[in-house]
Formats: sequence, C-alpha cells, structure tokens
Amino acid sequence: MSDLHPYVSVEAVTRAYPGHTVFRDLWFGVNRGEFVCLVGHSGCGKTTVLNILAGLDKPDSGGVIVDGVEINGPSLDRAVIFQGHALMPWMTAEANVAFALSCRHKGWSKPQLREAAREALEKVGLGAAANRKPSMLSGGMKQRVGIARALALAPKMLLMDEPFSALDALTRGALQDEVSRLVQEANQTAFMITHDVDEAILLADRILLMTNGPDSHVAEVVQNTLPRPRDRANLHKLPGYHALRDHILEFLLTRSRELRGNPQPGWDRKALPVVRPAA
Ligand SMILES: Nc1ncnc2c1ncn2[C@@H]1O[C@H](COP(=O)(O)OP(=O)(O)O)[C@@H](O)[C@H]1O
Ligand SMILES: [Mg+2]
Repeated sequence: MSDLHPYVSVEAVTRAYPGHTVFRDLWFGVNRGEFVCLVGHSGCGKTTVLNILAGLDKPDSGGVIVDGVEINGPSLDRAVIFQGHALMPWMTAEANVAFALSCRHKGWSKPQLREAAREALEKVGLGAAANRKPSMLSGGMKQRVGIARALALAPKMLLMDEPFSALDALTRGALQDEVSRLVQEANQTAFMITHDVDEAILLADRILLMTNGPDSHVAEVVQNTLPRPRDRANLHKLPGYHALRDHILEFLLTRSRELRGNPQPGWDRKALPVVRPAA
C-alpha cells in the first residue's frame, strides 16, 4: 500500500466556474482500507471534491482513478452518506436498505434482500426499528439508516460529506463512535469531509488540510498516529492528541488564509508535505 499506487487516486483535478476557480490541480490518494478526512473552511470546495469523487460532478481537467479505472459517473462502488439522510419517505427503514441492495445484487430474492437489510440495520442498533418509515425515526436514527445502507453495499469507497453536522452533540458523538467502529471492522476505505477537528482526529488515518477558497489547494497532509481504538471519551487522553489538534487549529486559524494561492516554498502538489505533529 504505497502512495505511488493508491486505491483511489485524484490526479490533477481542477474545477472552475466562469470567473471563479474553485481549486486547481489537486493530487492525492486514498489507500485501501484507509480513512482520509478533508478539512477546510466553508466555501473552499470540499463538497465539490466529494461530488467529483462520487461521480456527481466532473472536473474541468484531471481525473479520479478508483482501483485502476477512471470514474465516469456515479456508481454503487462509491456510496455516499449525505448531510441529510436522503431516505425514501414512503419506504420503511428495511425497505430503504433492501432497495439499495437490490440495485447492487440483481439476482437476490426478496427474503435474501430482507435478511441482509435486517442484518445491516442490526449492526447500527436499529433492528427493532426496521419496520418504521423515516417520519417515525429521529434524526440520528435516520442517519443511522443511511450509514447501514451505505455500508451494506460494501462499496469500494465510502464517501461522507459532513454527515453528522445536522445532529445534536450527543447524537453526533454516538454516531462518530459507531462509524469509527463499523469502518474499522469492515476495513472500509473511506473519505470524509468535516470541519469538526475532533471528528477528523477520531476517525482519520490521514487528514488533508485545504486552504481557503477560491483557488484553494490541499496544503499538507497530517498523519494521525493516535493509537486505535479511539473513542470520543478517551480521545483527549491519547498521546499526541493535543499537538495534533493544535496543529490543525493553527492551520484553520491562520495558514488556511495565508497559503491560499500562495503555497509555501518547496511545496509540490504531487508530493504533498506530510506532517506528524509531535506528542
Ligand atoms: N453550481 C455552482 N456554480 C457556481 N459556483 C459554485 C457552484 N457550486 C459551488 N460553487 C462555488 O464553489 C465554491 C466551493 O463550494 P463547495 O464545494 O460547496 O464548498 P464547501 O463544501 O467547502 O463549503 C464556492 O465558492 C461556491 O460558491
Ligand atoms: Mg460543503
């Protein structure tokens, strides 16, 4: 698993609107089984990056290669968990998951789909709520269904765009721990956008720091060496936590602005500086 041939490879990706370059010449990779977070201020282009990875948007130049094949549109190989839950309101939780599975596994029988959907919902603690429609579920439960649906597809890459930002703090913490556990168990390759520094520290193996926009770029890669398992309750006690957090906060407070359109000397977009904040 070297950086030379990552599982997911973003190569020279530029996205611009008339009179407005969102970002230019992005290069980064995600290794198989790795969890990468992209952190940056509002408007720097994070959602645009995720939409390009999902195949919902296209770069103006450059491309994205997943498992050796350039992507060209959306695919069940790249499941997205959106900020809103995006469930079909007329279907039960189980039917929502089963429907996604039926798109993935055309030959599966109804009982097979139901059973797999049940199992996926049980993994996120929703076995008892499988027959409820979204209107009968809390915000956190709906988001859990979205997580169950995405993971049940066993996608090549799981994509998440600030999936917990609409939830209250308690629910958010519980879901972060849950996603952390499930992704580790499945050795799932994952890419998440967040502006919550602790969320990135909890979940990520590597954290990409993006400058402010317009014309943003990924300024550096932070290696998260905090030992696993991590959970919200013990995160701040792990060796290296404070150095890591300070480093990212300092980037967001000052360098994200200073480095916009003005990379630091020696910066190479194809070989981003890697930082391991000292304990
Ligand atoms: N359809 C569009 N037309 C023009 N500009 C857009 C469009 N979509 C996004 N943008 C611009 O792209 C930039 C990045 O947006 P976005 O990816 O949503 O940022 P983030 O998710 O980091 O907040 C913003 O300046 C936004 O105004
Ligand atoms: Mg966004």
